[in-house]
Amino acid sequence: MSKVTVNFIKCAMIYFALAMILGVTMTIAGPNYPLRPIHTHFNLLGWMSMMIFGVAYHILPRFSGVPLWSDKLSVVHLWVANIGLIGMAIGWWLQSQGVGFVPLHIFSLVQGVSVVMFLVNMFKTIKVGPAFQAKP
Ligand code: HEM
Ligand code: HEM
Repeated sequence: MSKVTVNFIKCAMIYFALAMILGVTMTIAGPNYPLRPIHTHFNLLGWMSMMIFGVAYHILPRFSGVPLWSDKLSVVHLWVANIGLIGMAIGWWLQSQGVGFVPLHIFSLVQGVSVVMFLVNMFKTIKVGPAFQAKP
């Protein structure tokens, strides 16, 4: 596996662990702000999306029979996705402290840019391959 795949999968597992801690905390303390949206997005943008990104970077070029369009872009994506998600978590916390929406808006945009990086790389990579034929 490439370094970017391993790192995405490791990040996914770390966010899963953090999300579980927040989830269990909320079962005890009750659903609250900002823990709920942080829990939600550590699970959905961290655990699930990053696991998908890691596996997709490994497997989709192989299914297509071509190399990934840009390895460099996938590494930038890894960093920008993490900065975006951690920033969003901090943004939700700052909002709960009365600081306002601006940090959350900025890091949400960063997260959005990271998603576009993945989409561009994958649209440029995936190709129709020969149909799978089972051996008689
Ligand atoms: C140890 C496992 C988990 C625990 C203890 C846990 C706990 C919680 C709690 C206490 C809430 C607040 C519920 C409320 O608002 O009444 C919540 C919300 C939520 N959780 Fe989890 N959770 C867990 C795993 C997951 C996973 C694996 C996902 C998704 C992959 C997930 C997605 C969500 C979402 C989307 C919400 C917000 C739901 C809403 O808006 O009503 N959770 N979770
Ligand atoms: C660029 C990426 C994303 C941004 C900027 C974003 C932002 C937000 C914001 C600001 C909220 C409202 C939270 C609140 O104040 O209560 C929200 C809620 C929610 N988002 Fe996202 N989101 C993103 C991606 C996703 C993805 C990929 C999923 C699912 C796979 C998702 C699932 C949810 C759910 C279930 C809620 C409602 C539950 C909650 O409030 O905790 N989001 N999101």
